[in-house]
Amino acid sequence: MSQKRVLSGIQPTSDSFHLGNYLGAVKQWVELQDSHDAYYCIVDLHAMTVETDPKLMRKRTLTSAAQLLAFGISPEKATLFVQSQVPAHNQLGWVMECLTGFGEASRMTQFKDKSQKSGADTTRVGLFTYPMLMAADILLYQTNLVPVGEDQRQHIELTRDIAERFNSKYGKTFVIPEGYILKEGAKIFDIQDPTAKMSKSAGSGAGLIEIMDTPEANLKKIKSAVTDAGREVKFDAKEKPGISNLLSIHSALSGKSIKSLELEFDGKGYGDFKTSVAEVVVEYLRPIRSKALELLEDEPYLLTILHDGAQKASSVADKTLEQTYKNLGLVL
Ligand code: AMP
Ligand code: TRP
Repeated sequence: MSQKRVLSGIQPTSDSFHLGNYLGAVKQWVELQDSHDAYYCIVDLHAMTVETDPKLMRKRTLTSAAQLLAFGISPEKATLFVQSQVPAHNQLGWVMECLTGFGEASRMTQFKDKSQKSGADTTRVGLFTYPMLMAADILLYQTNLVPVGEDQRQHIELTRDIAERFNSKYGKTFVIPEGYILKEGAKIFDIQDPTAKMSKSAGSGAGLIEIMDTPEANLKKIKSAVTDAGREVKFDAKEKPGISNLLSIHSALSGKSIKSLELEFDGKGYGDFKTSVAEVVVEYLRPIRSKALELLEDEPYLLTILHDGAQKASSVADKTLEQTYKNLGLVL
């Protein structure tokens, strides 16, 4: 029996991924590559929806690849590639735009939030059409499962709607994908403001745990994470958002259940608990950062993996694109 297909994407918008990216998405990517036919994409075209600098774009794309490999994405098990190297993404993206209602696209909350923050004059049209390009990313590979964090749920719903619409109008062309969004880790919060999601665009960066940061810097950040009123280490997302977030992080990385952590820290204060979280995070990330730095020393190796990946991805994507054009009545 052939394996089910998984696809996901991540934007190269920063010098480092953060813990939310890892726990919300990449950790599942690594797990799913063993049981699925996996395609993982560094979505540089999506990254262009905000101001970019050519030097940074190149550097961050390679750093993204190095981090994904360091986390355990294996080129033997999964196809790792850069979105702009597979032109079918742009080609199907246009078809997706022509199938999406303006009102439907206007309801995307991520667009509404981001465009409200930056204002109409600096918001690019590409930010508005971004979910349609994401739909193309997914549908090109006849994807069954899309492992992402909670913030992408609405985009996956849109992808399903567009795919169903296309199939019923033009004949069955696309597999209808499903989101793979875990309960735990799907939303990691900022450790300075645990009511906001951990994000690279947030404030000062003091609340962001970055994979490529030094162990010393991360240790310091976690030790100064905000906590809540009271002194009991207990999971309560409403009353204790800070402690609950740290419990989720500890549990995801140490493999201990939240219940057993509550017991372990029963009668101890927040200080002891934060020290433990800091140690778990720092020791987990230390070898990953070293491995990524080592991989970055060998650019030809990284480029070979990405070029091979793009070739393999293209052979799948081109077939879907051809079928789509055929079903639309385009002359081939
Ligand atoms: P992005 O950096 O926006 O390309 O996000 C890459 C992946 O990380 C997506 O699947 C997001 O849903 C996920 N993600 C981003 N921030 C968080 C967060 N704070 N908690 C959990 N998942 C996240
Ligand atoms: N929009 C996603 C994010 O910001 C990234 C992304 C682009 C993606 N294309 C995708 C995720 C396809 C899953 C599948 O996180």
